[in-house]
Amino acid sequence: MSSPAQSASHRISRKASRFTESVIREMTREAMKYGAVNLSQGFPDFPAPEDIKRVAMQAIADDVNQYAITWGAKDFRDAIAKKTRWYLGLEIDPEAEITVTCGSTEGMISAMMATVDPGDEVIVFDPYYENYAPDAILSDATPRYVPLRAPDWSFNRDELRAAFNQKTKAIIICNPNNPTGKVFTRDEMEFIAGLCQEFDALCFTDEIYEHILYPRAGAEIAHISMAQIEGMRDRTVIVNSMSKTYSVTGWRVGYCVASPEITSAIRKVHDFLTVGAAAPLQAAGAYALALPASYYEQLQKDYEARRDLILPELEKAGFKTFRPDGAYYVMTDISGFGFKDDVEFTRHLIREIGVACVPGSSFYSDPALGSQQVRFCFCKKDETLMLAAERLSKLNR
Ligand SMILES: Cc1ncc(COP(=O)(O)O)c(C=O)c1O
Repeated sequence: MSSPAQSASHRISRKASRFTESVIREMTREAMKYGAVNLSQGFPDFPAPEDIKRVAMQAIADDVNQYAITWGAKDFRDAIAKKTRWYLGLEIDPEAEITVTCGSTEGMISAMMATVDPGDEVIVFDPYYENYAPDAILSDATPRYVPLRAPDWSFNRDELRAAFNQKTKAIIICNPNNPTGKVFTRDEMEFIAGLCQEFDALCFTDEIYEHILYPRAGAEIAHISMAQIEGMRDRTVIVNSMSKTYSVTGWRVGYCVASPEITSAIRKVHDFLTVGAAAPLQAAGAYALALPASYYEQLQKDYEARRDLILPELEKAGFKTFRPDGAYYVMTDISGFGFKDDVEFTRHLIREIGVACVPGSSFYSDPALGSQQVRFCFCKKDETLMLAAERLSKLNR
């Protein structure tokens, strides 16, 4: 007779037992439990734009309440094509090259399930957004990690070249990068593109922070999509979303842009996973993606101000910070506080100090690499950031 514990484990698939719950999402629950200021999971605590909300409410009132076309409502796909032409200079066919998904989360896993076979390898820069490891398990990919090294989160070109081989199906690039704030340069992107072409590999690019950039003198801080690089248009799957750009992370509306061949495979996977994303929210998406350039300029300025507010506060409290060039996170070094590791430090910060962050180890293939790092997000109201700062000032070094 097997023990109850054994029988229970037999009911769980090998795939599902190979990864844990999201640490990021767990930190939000911990923050709520202990009343901590939540600088862990990346979602705004300020209101979403009034006009976008109004269009969504009107769509519900107008009875846009049934299934949209499975790969996305036509007006939303048209808006995605138009905006992509404006922002990235790419001509994409809304009828054949776009799949609307339930957030970029579903976009990434659908793209991987549509293209990767068991035994295929997928290269991931390490540290990485934590979804990519379960995405690899669920899509039967074998991840190959290539380090991004602090303080500038650069990669070694020989190490990257050595990770490519005949089994390489794809590389995942998150640009601008979560958790590091790195923005890949054109030279880096061209180098990666060269390897993709040499080894006949695809590139999945997570571009959900494409508008959250912090230009500075003497540095090349601009968003580059892999699909813009010569020879990469048909090898790239752009994964994008409304979540961060329009401050609607709870809407779950994202999209993939890929060649017609890859798109038709993504659409099949997507159809049987979810059928489709929320129809009235896609109607609001059609409106949002047609907003003028001034919307994105303001978004960028607002995030720059938030970054410039939180960085000195973290430093004053004793963190060593890695200044982000993009996205809305700061990776920090906590070695000055003398904690055994990031998990113990995070627990202390949430329960005793009243601020939630994400333990750095959850972003690394080898947790030891992140054991003296934690990540803060700063997509919050000024008063939330100032309250966090006030609490952090009570930390003992
Ligand atoms: C890099 C990255 N990709 C994807 C997601 C999830 O995006 P979505 O809400 O579009 O599923 C996040 C959320 O924090 C993220 O940071």
